[in-house]
Amino acid sequence: MNKILNYFKKVLKRFKKKKARQKEESKHYISLKQIKATAKENKRITKAMEKKNNRKNVPEEEYLTKMRDPNNVVEFEDLHSYFYTESGVVKAVDGVSFDIPRKSIVGVVGESGCGKSVTSLSLMKLLQSPQGQIHSGSIRYSAKNGKVYDIAKVPKIDMRKIRGKEMTMIFQEPMTSLNPVFKIGDQLDEILFLHFPETTKKEAKKKSIEMLKIVGIAVPEKVYDRYPHELSGGMRQRVMIAMALSCDPNLIIADEPTTALDVTIQAQILELLRDLKDKINGSIMLITHDLGVIAEMADYVVVMYAGRVVEKGTVKEIFKDPKHPYTMGLQKSIPALNLDSDTLYTIPGTVPNPIDLPNYCYFRDRCNKRFEKCDGPYPPLMNTSSSRKVACYLYEEIQAEFNKEAGGKNGKK
Ligand SMILES: Nc1ncnc2c1ncn2[C@@H]1O[C@H](COP(=O)(O)OP(=O)(O)OP(=O)(O)O)[C@@H](O)[C@H]1O
Ligand code: SF4
Ligand SMILES: [Mg+2]
Repeated sequence: MNKILNYFKKVLKRFKKKKARQKEESKHYISLKQIKATAKENKRITKAMEKKNNRKNVPEEEYLTKMRDPNNVVEFEDLHSYFYTESGVVKAVDGVSFDIPRKSIVGVVGESGCGKSVTSLSLMKLLQSPQGQIHSGSIRYSAKNGKVYDIAKVPKIDMRKIRGKEMTMIFQEPMTSLNPVFKIGDQLDEILFLHFPETTKKEAKKKSIEMLKIVGIAVPEKVYDRYPHELSGGMRQRVMIAMALSCDPNLIIADEPTTALDVTIQAQILELLRDLKDKINGSIMLITHDLGVIAEMADYVVVMYAGRVVEKGTVKEIFKDPKHPYTMGLQKSIPALNLDSDTLYTIPGTVPNPIDLPNYCYFRDRCNKRFEKCDGPYPPLMNTSSSRKVACYLYEEIQAEFNKEAGGKNGKK
């Protein structure tokens, strides 16, 4: 009798365990019913947003604004860019604020998926619609004509006047941006015809060849008549840069411009970008996951993690004395020849799911410096100097001291 009772007890225990496991696992899955409901709700949201985006003849006053600091060419302020997917809302950019000062290179760094490209695509208003939308926040852009646009509010049709002529983008893989069935020359001329419709074919050819020469292509007349597949990776990236420059832009957004190239060509392309920044008298937003590239090129650095800025400052500050534990980890993971250890440092753990972000510091579960305070809400960006901000509770005291000093100085004035 006891044997039978024990047997049933064991079965019941196993059954309970199985149920508990199923319940735990079900937290990570969504049912078909939930998917359908989310898709329906998200479709409703994106439809309303697209309707607003596709409006025509919108008076300029609706999207004209003022810069906080006239020395900046771009000011991102509390930008939220989301993707409304069937599985939920992907908070790809979740409250990003930073500036791009005039005639400077701002490096944006962070591991894969942290929202670097989505931030730049929001600035160009090229998010994959209808799912990708700027949910809230501002992107102030100071144009060549002296007007300041809030890109987040500019309708799609009016954005065409700004994109290309004012700001251009250089992508990681030039082959995906160049059309394989058209000659290089035709693709370069096309940009000029689009932005300066009065240009004649002869003028366009002259300007295109000149641009190819500027970006260091040896026989520009020959390359003008070639197809993209007839060029090397480095040459294709130079052509992309020539295309980006042909309208004399105010701002170049370079998204991993050298990742697909070998080290020597990479150095040449970076050198070229630096020269061109001075030539066009503009600014560059340089996106990369390579801290080495940032150290070489940038004046300012913005470190992103899980859709947020965790630290920003001048390149000297960030490299000499990284403050955020994530930036410290990034710096430690740069391969160095003089290291004693033969294993490379990696930051343990993974990035949180952008659909289900925690309500505490996003880096907490990977952070080796966390303490009780870190269980609280997401830390705000704190000033540790006039040019430096860090989103980490470790610097509350420094921030308080900074505020006291700044308050004292203001009081003396
Ligand atoms: N079209 C899309 N639909 C849904 N989610 C997207 C889409 N595009 C990007 N995302 C999500 O947005 C987040 C940020 O992506 P983003 O491309 O900006 O990353 P990244 O920092 O540029 O990474 P990488 O260094 O790999 O280029 C990621 O979680 C990504 O999965
Ligand atoms: S707030 Fe806490 S958990 Fe987050 S990075 Fe700073 S120390 Fe680490
Ligand atoms: Mg990217």
